[in-house]
Amino acid sequence: MTKEALLLTIAVLGGTGKEGKGLAYRWAKAGYRMIIGSRTSEKAVTAASEIMERLEGGSSVVGTTNLEAAQQANIVVLSVPYSAHRDTLESVKEALKGKLLVDVTAPLVPPKVSKVQMPPAGSAAQEAKEIVGEDVEVAGAFQNVSYKHLMGEEDVECDVLVTGTSKKARQEVLTLVEAAGLVGWDAGPLENSVVAEGLTSVLININKLYGSKHAGIKITGAPRPL
Ligand SMILES: NC(=O)c1ccc[n+]([C@@H]2O[C@H](COP(=O)([O-])OP(=O)(O)OC[C@H]3O[C@@H](n4cnc5c(N)ncnc54)[C@H](OP(=O)(O)O)[C@@H]3O)[C@@H](O)[C@H]2O)c1
Repeated sequence: MTKEALLLTIAVLGGTGKEGKGLAYRWAKAGYRMIIGSRTSEKAVTAASEIMERLEGGSSVVGTTNLEAAQQANIVVLSVPYSAHRDTLESVKEALKGKLLVDVTAPLVPPKVSKVQMPPAGSAAQEAKEIVGEDVEVAGAFQNVSYKHLMGEEDVECDVLVTGTSKKARQEVLTLVEAAGLVGWDAGPLENSVVAEGLTSVLININKLYGSKHAGIKITGAPRPL
């Protein structure tokens, strides 16, 4: 367990869902104190118990409402469908001031989820930044990692592109990527999140055409971060 993990509490808003629960599981295993957020605290408590059942003693996962989770955490991860992105952020934005928000949202627009359809802000992560304002650092990450990989115990082959409003924010998220057992790359400013978010639709299209279920990406031609 790293010193960083001992000191930090991470909230996952929408952590009752597939992707968020997988991330919470991985970070709890790495020693971070985790808070699962939900629209209903009962649902969050149930999800937290499910994760705790899979972990060794010493881990800490609790559940509460999205707002309380955001208030109590140092780092807040947003893991809800794009249709709930704005409302969820509006409901917690006061609690995010001075914190780091990590947006894992791919702005999929059903039914054509294999077609890239970016919001007017340019990407979901940029839209998040517009909503939460100046006092919040925003990063985009994990949009290309299937939840199936996160809930499994095996090494995850899919890399993570990390974009963010500052190098410091990206570094913090790269530490979280490593703690989750994946390889992350500093992919530059938040504006570059459009690429990672758009790739999700490309990967869904590949899954559809080639019969795969969890296609991902891997960076080649550069020294892999340890
Ligand atoms: N699934 C993947 O493999 C994957 C991979 C990469 C990125 N992502 C991204 O991660 C995000 C979450 O994906 P997911 O598959 O985990 O989604 P999900 O399971 O469908 O939903 C996650 C949680 O969001 C909340 N939610 C759902 N609908 C809502 C609504 N209308 N209003 C407010 N909250 C709502 C629910 O929490 P409560 O009911 O507890 O409030 C739900 O448990 C998405 O943006 C997706 O693009 C997913």
